[in-house]
Amino acid sequence: MNPISSKILFDHCYGKYTIAAVNVFTMEQVHGLFAAAQDSETPVIIQLTPAARNYAHPDMLMAMVEAASKIYPKTVYTIHLDHGVEAHVFDAIGKGYTSVMIDASHDEFETNIKRTKAVVDAAHKKNIVVEAELGVLSGVEDDLNIEEARAKYTNPNQAKEFVEKTGCDSLAVAVGTSHGAYKFSGGRGLQFSVLEKIQQQLPGYPLVLHGSSGVNKNDIAEINRYGGKLNENASGVTDEELKKAIHYGICKVNIATDLRLLWTKIHRKFFVEHPDLFDLIIPGKDYMKAYKEFMIERFEVFGCKGKS
Ligand code: G3H
Ligand code: 13P
Ligand code: NA
Ligand code: ZN
Repeated sequence: MNPISSKILFDHCYGKYTIAAVNVFTMEQVHGLFAAAQDSETPVIIQLTPAARNYAHPDMLMAMVEAASKIYPKTVYTIHLDHGVEAHVFDAIGKGYTSVMIDASHDEFETNIKRTKAVVDAAHKKNIVVEAELGVLSGVEDDLNIEEARAKYTNPNQAKEFVEKTGCDSLAVAVGTSHGAYKFSGGRGLQFSVLEKIQQQLPGYPLVLHGSSGVNKNDIAEINRYGGKLNENASGVTDEELKKAIHYGICKVNIATDLRLLWTKIHRKFFVEHPDLFDLIIPGKDYMKAYKEFMIERFEVFGCKGKS
């Protein structure tokens, strides 16, 4: 395995384009992501969450990434722990990850600083870079339910102090997005006024946008046409918002939901159209192909396509 550091990617992309950070849970997703990255010569951040580690086993996940790096040897990639707490972070350090996220964003400011700094001190000794989060995203985050009412945008005045005191290498900000398929339930979009103030406090410093799935309306409609019951009010971040965010220092955009919706669409359609089959290879192949095409389209929007 030869992953690179996200520090290099962010140095190159700041203000010009943004890097896709994609959560993978299964073999088909690992194939799809590496195939898209290698064939389009695009650097990617492979993201592994605690939920994925619990599902597949941490060793299985890492072994899949390692195998993919041999199958797609020209891929430029980093391996990132997404939404970790100390137990995941300290396990990830020394096990092949090139960056870790410590998510102490639900704690008080001072506690978040303390927990983040402890992780930074340990990670930097092993040349691993650290993403931290300030502010609280609304919506659902793995098994964590956060009341919409408790949603807190990142306080721009605290952002600089947080980065200086912790030494973290990138900062995830809460500027209106949430995880999952039902973003912006209040009808508000990305909060560029908040993002702009954060950038003014931290010029040139890499910022991270969680909850960056586009949540395609046609995919929702298609899923429901084939028996799904997803709320048609599902919505995500628009391409225009993502492109604009690049100019405010967003260097990394996290996507998970879009690839789950794609999986649901492909499999629902296949089994409705072929009620006599119980095959896993045909829809699995369809998914890998569609995954690759979807990601290459995203790379174009993010401006990172061909930047390996
Ligand atoms: O944040 C990472 C988790 O996998 C949540 O992703 O909102 O797409 O379920 P999700
Ligand atoms: P989405 O739910 O928008 O895909 O966001 C994923 C994410 O932020 C993972 O950390
Ligand atoms: Na992350
Ligand atoms: Zn996230």
